[in-house]
Amino acid sequence: MDELVSLCKRRGFIFPSSDIYGGLASCYDYGPLGVELKRNVKNAWWKAVVQMRDDMVGLDCSILMHPMIWKASGHVDKFADLVVECRKCNTRTRVDHLQGAEGVETTRHSHGEAQAGADLSDKVCPGCGSTGQFTEPMAFRLMFETQMGANVDDSMKVYLRPETAQGIFANFGNVLDSTRLKIPFGIAQIGKSFRNEVTTKAFIFRTREFEQMEIEFFCRPGTDDEWWSRWKEQRMQWYLDLGIRKENLRFREHAPDELAHYAKACVDIEYLFPFGSGDWQELEGIANRTDYDLRQHQRGIRSVTRWFENRRDTEKTPLVEEAAEWHKGPLSYFDDQAREKFIPYVIEPSAGVDRGALAFLVDSYAEEEVRGEMRNVLRLHPSLAPIKVGIFPLVKKQGMPEKGRAIYDDLKRFWSCFYDEKGAVGRRYRRQDEAGTPFCVTVDGQTLEDDTVTVRDRDSMEQVRVGGDKLRAFLLEKLDM
Ligand code: GAP
Repeated sequence: MDELVSLCKRRGFIFPSSDIYGGLASCYDYGPLGVELKRNVKNAWWKAVVQMRDDMVGLDCSILMHPMIWKASGHVDKFADLVVECRKCNTRTRVDHLQGAEGVETTRHSHGEAQAGADLSDKVCPGCGSTGQFTEPMAFRLMFETQMGANVDDSMKVYLRPETAQGIFANFGNVLDSTRLKIPFGIAQIGKSFRNEVTTKAFIFRTREFEQMEIEFFCRPGTDDEWWSRWKEQRMQWYLDLGIRKENLRFREHAPDELAHYAKACVDIEYLFPFGSGDWQELEGIANRTDYDLRQHQRGIRSVTRWFENRRDTEKTPLVEEAAEWHKGPLSYFDDQAREKFIPYVIEPSAGVDRGALAFLVDSYAEEEVRGEMRNVLRLHPSLAPIKVGIFPLVKKQGMPEKGRAIYDDLKRFWSCFYDEKGAVGRRYRRQDEAGTPFCVTVDGQTLEDDTVTVRDRDSMEQVRVGGDKLRAFLLEKLDM
């Protein structure tokens, strides 16, 4: 892990945030290679879950939403971790982390109730090492709060969203009304989420600002178990297709006492991260959220309408009536063939972009000896590699740079490419190996005679000669993603 973190900084994948001021705990910036990797992870996900399916559409909601959303969803009251404070050093620690359940943490939505009565007398403070010196457990709210609006009278407290999911539920009616979708169908969204995590962990694994890729898949009650199983398999296959080794992935089903407040069932896809001596940790959760959220929002809008009505009880304006009427409809679904109205059940595969990127980096990273020298290589799947093709003139003379540039100008219209003419060619290959670039094209003396180039494969390091006129087709076949 240390080697990888150092490579990430050295090669411009990931930097500590605010690095010039010494960094900001658990916040990270993605550098020139990292931003490409992260975008590729998101594109691969979008392609698999939206572009390639006819039962899914996308959405991009605002981060700031009406505070009632978070009241209705249960986050205002329940989205908290149970923490204790050390009486000696004031460090706050999640109770479930104190218990030292190595590698397996209970989900925060469970509110930590399961540990509320736990005996802490033999637990050790990770801050100062003292034993059993803790306060009573208390709930620590994870949502970041901020103020919206400049005027004292009408400014209000709003939250930075802790999950992207609620934007999808809030737009369920809008999507139904604006498309011809019929149940079963799903809505996908990628976006930033924020949680004031009590403890952060290992590099970009658990941060306070992160990106999620979430699907809310709406189905008829009674078909939910089957859809949950299908999504479980399809999401696991996505990681396998993108090259993660099977032995480093597993499912872990949540026990009833660790289920989130909204879930009937949940399974995590876990990855064996190299934290300590190996640590199975959640990459993605696939939950059966039942009709909890849509039902809660239906209640939420009703209560807002009631409040509105009470305030204006002498004047029953059309606006109030309209609002009262409106809420009856959009969160339920009318099946026009069965002539039946119901609130759909929801299956939610929810993945972290940063966590996924970390797993792809870790799994693809290798240090190996080649002819007495060490090389670092990222064997990233071509669709995830930040640069697809490196283009080098062997030497900076005899027209090779001009030829190399011409190839670069042609190929960059199709893939992200990198042109490099500095230093020994062996070094240039090593730099691209570390960046995860699957192919390097080299222009040499023979190119000028017969218009062939060498194409070097990152993983096997084998080189083949390819005719200049066939180069694009050759790469297209290899990079076909
Ligand atoms: N809408 C459901 C939900 O948010 P979650 O299990 O809390 O469920 C889903 O989060 C995914 O988001 C996790 O599997 C993880 O990949 C990612 N995630 C959650 N908290 C994170 C954090 N603090 N830092 C990085 N990724 C996080």
